[in-house]
Amino acid sequence: AKFTWVDKDTCIACGACGATAPDIYDYDDEGLAEVIFNGDNNRGVTEIPEDMHDDMLDACDGCPTDSIRIADEPFDAE
Ligand code: F3S
Repeated sequence: AKFTWVDKDTCIACGACGATAPDIYDYDDEGLAEVIFNGDNNRGVTEIPEDMHDDMLDACDGCPTDSIRIADEPFDAE
């Protein structure tokens, strides 16, 4: 299983992740990325389906500030 969230403390609102994986990442009012998949609300507790993993990994690789976190276990981010 894969889980993901965005560290907004380091996100610079570059906009790449939402373009790469729009079903997983969107932006808040300040343009900072957050995980929106299935109402996750950037908590990193929602399992990302396997058919979305490629997009998720591409987004992670493409983030210039390495702000996208991915792990096999649920996070408990704010
Ligand atoms: Fe932010 Fe990285 Fe996405 S800087 S907007 S988390 S690609």
